[in-house]
Amino acid sequence: MTQSNSTVKIYDFYPSFASFKTEILDGLRKPQKEIHAKFFYDKLGSELFEEITMLDEYYPTRTEIFILEQYKKEIASMVGIDSILIEFGSGSSKKIRILLDELPDLTAYMPIDISKEYLEESTEILAHHFPNLPIVAVCADYTELLHLPDIKHAARQVAFFPGSTIGNFEPLAAQKFLRRVSRTLKKGDGMIIGVDLKKDPSVLHAAYNDAKGITAEFNSNLLRRINRELNADFILDNFRHHAFYNKEFGRIEMHLISLTDQTVRVANENISFTKGETIHTENSYKYSIMEFQDMVRNNGFFPEKVWIDPNNLFGVFYLGVSHNSCV
Ligand code: AVI
Repeated sequence: MTQSNSTVKIYDFYPSFASFKTEILDGLRKPQKEIHAKFFYDKLGSELFEEITMLDEYYPTRTEIFILEQYKKEIASMVGIDSILIEFGSGSSKKIRILLDELPDLTAYMPIDISKEYLEESTEILAHHFPNLPIVAVCADYTELLHLPDIKHAARQVAFFPGSTIGNFEPLAAQKFLRRVSRTLKKGDGMIIGVDLKKDPSVLHAAYNDAKGITAEFNSNLLRRINRELNADFILDNFRHHAFYNKEFGRIEMHLISLTDQTVRVANENISFTKGETIHTENSYKYSIMEFQDMVRNNGFFPEKVWIDPNNLFGVFYLGVSHNSCV
């Protein structure tokens, strides 16, 4: 544990990074080639994602911020006083500030992120804005975390998981994650979670096929990363970004399509592509309010409240911990 100043503590759980090389090669050897979406976020990928969140077509970020701004008093009253607010995958901790403004009596804020660099940077900024707020930062892979550090007694713990990141989990993994989070909490605790809702596919299509081509850049940056880190020779112009709404699965799929028959060298291995073959790079699941509420039941939570924007694009859910079933 390192002590930064009187109100900030960082617990480093030294998250293990599975081998990038092994995961990439395993994915590229499959009949349907795939690369896990978590690999988007190298430095440039994270910057491109920040740019995406500001695009006209990409409504989720600004809509979620609108909902948090609009209902912050009500959300804060559900968090209550003498609570610990725990953010999973806190990143730049931008959205939490909206709630922290309304929560002067919070016992502590606990951001959890895999990037120690990001954590140090963002907690320093937060400590400056909220000098009286105890911040206990945890460096860990939040999808693997089994228990939270026992910091001090608080009446309630509330998890915060914004951004519809839950949509990038396969449904079974999303359920497993919810169960895991609920197990780190107790009855009476809660979770605030942002979820992108099902909507007209043309709105979704535009959000993942922006006119400036930033999402296409974000997608093909994966190949740039593999070239750099695995000594590969992908020619970026030989692949094209392809994103579409798969109605059957209720998800946006992102792929990189090979524009020609080609063989690419990746970490001393030949990977062959036929023209039109794709690498599947991301799923982004969209849920109806009912579908999401059904999913949280039996996974350690019960839906207590949902706030949505006037165009029904995005939902911020407050879930209570139920521990009623097979969690
Ligand atoms: C981070 N995640 C919720 C984004 C999404 O919309 O699924 C990632 C993204 N992919 C393309 N654009 C944004």
